[in-house]
Amino acid sequence: MKAIAMTRPGGPEVLELRERPEPAPGPGEVLVEVAAAGVNFMDTGVRRGMFWTATSDATVLGVEGAGRVIGFGSGVEGLRPGQRVAWAYAPGSYAERLVVPAAALVPVPGTIDDRTAAAVMMQGLTASHFATDFYPVQPGDVALVHAAAGGVGLLLTQIIKLRGGQVIGRVSSADKVAAAKAAGADHVIVDVEGRFAAAAVHLSGGEGVHVVYDGSGPKTFQGSLDSLRRCGTFCWYGPVLSGQAPLDIMSLPRSIKLGYAVFADHVPTPALLRARAGRLFDWIETGGLKVRIGGVYALAEAARAHADMESRATTGKLLLVP
Ligand SMILES: NC(=O)c1ccc[n+]([C@@H]2O[C@H](COP(=O)([O-])OP(=O)(O)OC[C@H]3O[C@@H](n4cnc5c(N)ncnc54)[C@H](OP(=O)(O)O)[C@@H]3O)[C@@H](O)[C@H]2O)c1
Repeated sequence: MKAIAMTRPGGPEVLELRERPEPAPGPGEVLVEVAAAGVNFMDTGVRRGMFWTATSDATVLGVEGAGRVIGFGSGVEGLRPGQRVAWAYAPGSYAERLVVPAAALVPVPGTIDDRTAAAVMMQGLTASHFATDFYPVQPGDVALVHAAAGGVGLLLTQIIKLRGGQVIGRVSSADKVAAAKAAGADHVIVDVEGRFAAAAVHLSGGEGVHVVYDGSGPKTFQGSLDSLRRCGTFCWYGPVLSGQAPLDIMSLPRSIKLGYAVFADHVPTPALLRARAGRLFDWIETGGLKVRIGGVYALAEAARAHADMESRATTGKLLLVP
């Protein structure tokens, strides 16, 4: 079967379409035919050698997707052949087929198509963690959402609005304003130099925002701190884009809450994974959450998808279709 693999870290050019052995499910595992695989920023980190460094053989990239059950190992219950499923984290998803632990799969309702399901898993669960769990947005709260036209940003904006919050989005170019506004952003700041704080404070009525969601790297960190109101919350989430600069805790604004939010802590058990993915599907079915697919690429075009994502020119979710 075909898959996108790399044998050394580097730029998009290290991603190659390769013939790989047919995967075989072991106990508790399911063989899945991939209908669509999600492209996530973490995949670019894997490609550049930030994660999964212990792997010696050709590493198949990708963690997210949707498709159909085509085989089982022993001991798998509650799934049937042909069933449509999706997953947020299963290494090796840039492939025609892969083996996924049954516990990592969620059933996809008939009303949700494969591409939408693949597009909403990682970024949707991330956004729902941020707005309902890490900092449960309350009606009237003002949130600053970075990369507001990106995959996480568009979903996060909509979930904040569903909860009655207001959104100030920050995007890097004027081309992205319409997408952020279509997702419900009340205001959109265009900035790429980290000079958005004064506008964010002004747009929040002068006091600063209740919460900032920032996965955009070192350039935005200080501005995000400066945008917060007294006792505000800083939801930091960008290990791929952010440098790990040491932090002097005494330099932080007093009484703020600053934390590293990780989507996996939103779905620590199979039951919570199914419940919280199910809630995303419900929101999609009832029209509260719209999933914007910004680009669909053939599996063989994974390198181009990575280059496009890193160019900052894309909006919404990028998918690979085997
Ligand atoms: N903690 C978690 O659980 C978790 C889960 C998923 C993702 N993440 C993190 O979230 C971030 C976004 O990942 P994603 O896969 O979900 O993609 P995404 O939300 O679609 O992000 C793409 C956006 O990132 C911005 N961007 C692109 N290149 C950039 C650069 N060089 N510097 C700064 N910003 C850049 C762009 O927005 P603008 O050009 O408008 O700024 C683009 O719209 C990554 O840092 C990823 O590691 C964290």
